[in-house]
Amino acid sequence: MPKVTFINPDESRIELDIPVGTSLMRAATAHGIDGIVGDCGGGLTCATCHVLVEDGYLDKMPAVQANEDQMLDFTAMGRSPCSRLSCQLVVTEDMDGLTVRIADPQL
Ligand code: FES
Repeated sequence: MPKVTFINPDESRIELDIPVGTSLMRAATAHGIDGIVGDCGGGLTCATCHVLVEDGYLDKMPAVQANEDQMLDFTAMGRSPCSRLSCQLVVTEDMDGLTVRIADPQL
């Protein structure tokens, strides 16, 4: 099962084994990671699941679709080149070792 590490705003790290086919947002909220809110449940209407993908993994992520691209402009933290909405990042085997930084703030 792919391992994904979430870095909290206080720099603490949480490593999760996430089943292929599960979004990072679902995995994070199911494990009580507070920094990922996921208010809309993955419907691309809240932008409270914002993460920053660490170096070396951006090219392994699915392409940003138009709706996600639009919502990234509404993140509370502001957008960076490595910003993604974690509800749109569905885990694949290729993502094993992925590290994402949790955006702060989310609201
Ligand atoms: Fe709302 Fe990702 S959970 S946009």
